[in-house]
Amino acid sequence: MLDDMLDYVSQIRQRPVWQPAPDSVEHVFRSSIPSASKSLRETHECFMQSVLPYTVGNSHPGFMGWVHGGGTVVGILAEMLASGLNSNLGGRDQIPIQVEQQVVRWMQQLFGFPESASGLFVTGSSMANFIGLLVARTSKIGTGVRAQGLQRVQQKLVAYTTCEAHSCLERAMEMTGMGGHQLRKIPVNELHQMNLKAFEETIADDRALGLTPFCVIGTAGTVNVGAIDDLSGIAAVALREDLWFHVDGACGALGMMSTKIGAKLLGIEQADSIALDFHKWGQVPYDAGFVLIRNSQLHYDTFASQAEYLRRETRGMAAGSPWPCDFGPDLSRSFKALKVWFTMQVYGTDRLARMMEQTCELATYLANRIEESAELELLAPVNLNIVCFRYRCDDADRVNAEIVVAIQESGLVAPSSTTIGGKFAIRAAIFNHRTSQLEIDSLVEESLRFGRSISQTN
Ligand SMILES: Cc1ncc(COP(=O)(O)O)c(C=O)c1O
Repeated sequence: MLDDMLDYVSQIRQRPVWQPAPDSVEHVFRSSIPSASKSLRETHECFMQSVLPYTVGNSHPGFMGWVHGGGTVVGILAEMLASGLNSNLGGRDQIPIQVEQQVVRWMQQLFGFPESASGLFVTGSSMANFIGLLVARTSKIGTGVRAQGLQRVQQKLVAYTTCEAHSCLERAMEMTGMGGHQLRKIPVNELHQMNLKAFEETIADDRALGLTPFCVIGTAGTVNVGAIDDLSGIAAVALREDLWFHVDGACGALGMMSTKIGAKLLGIEQADSIALDFHKWGQVPYDAGFVLIRNSQLHYDTFASQAEYLRRETRGMAAGSPWPCDFGPDLSRSFKALKVWFTMQVYGTDRLARMMEQTCELATYLANRIEESAELELLAPVNLNIVCFRYRCDDADRVNAEIVVAIQESGLVAPSSTTIGGKFAIRAAIFNHRTSQLEIDSLVEESLRFGRSISQTN
């Protein structure tokens, strides 16, 4: 099995990025609950035939859709070690928690946070943003809401982000019970960054209505175009207005490892909390989200609870309090930290930084190729590693939607899509460390080839 996975990675270029599974394969997964045992060999064979060829293909260098990392062999091996140990990182006195805490300290250093800051591995930034908002709520209205619920809270809390922010933030507001409508989506400027004047005016309007602004969420790398909000500017307003400053750094925060990219993230070091994903730009296998909180006491107060069966001691296995389960909703937790720890030790931040810079250089190369072509049109400025463009033609929204599907079905490369300023866009998000100029050229050529044929045949 280990050989199969090493072969899978080393020979991945010979496979299509993605292919739809035939009915016969889908049928395999409709059989009922097995009562009799099957051999491991047979089950593995089924995996090789019916699972492995039909993934979304984000390990493939041609994958450029959504925001997916490529993974590494180092990550595969670390996952094997972690599942071999079968550690539960909810708590207790064990070195795996020290590994997680070491990564927390590395993140403190990366973002210029104090040693007293707390951090936690979570599934992804959807969860990390949710935790950030809950701690922000504690900072404004205290912990009484935990027992009494929002019904007993006098203040009507409102948060701010931009119309380009990820949809998980609205969901997080829904899940906190504060309500999705209480998230104000501030318009953006031509660089897709928060319009700070509109932000300040909206706060003033909300205060005039008797509402209580409590949090602002800046984005370090928007999902649509990779824009980075003016984080220093947001930090200054947050300070003046007494708002919690959270950064959604799912896409871009790890860029702090690079001096070049880090310069664009100036202001992130002033955040009260940061959400980020190692499974995106960090190339760690899924899932490896992380939240960093400046004020660990507020973080603890938001989640910690008492239970007799989780009693803490100063000696024995129940020592080492506080435990990770005191800082988030999960009690049972896998050893996600190990694959991050391995990745950071084996590659080091210099090499990871260079890899991230290379994805940005490829995005610039793609943007240049688009601008050189009279048939293609760039739809947004390229700031990091995401490029949005389209084929110029009549009925462009429909034709470009068909182009994206046709390219995905070709199996050569795989962009996704979005809408920019009302225009349907082909979107290439270059997060995979295996992507090279070859795949970028292929994306341009396939866009032109399908653009010509689809626009002519319809
Ligand atoms: C800017 C941004 N925030 C949050 C998320 C959600 O992250 P996750 O998928 O790790 O939950 C994403 C996902 O692409 C994102 O791009």
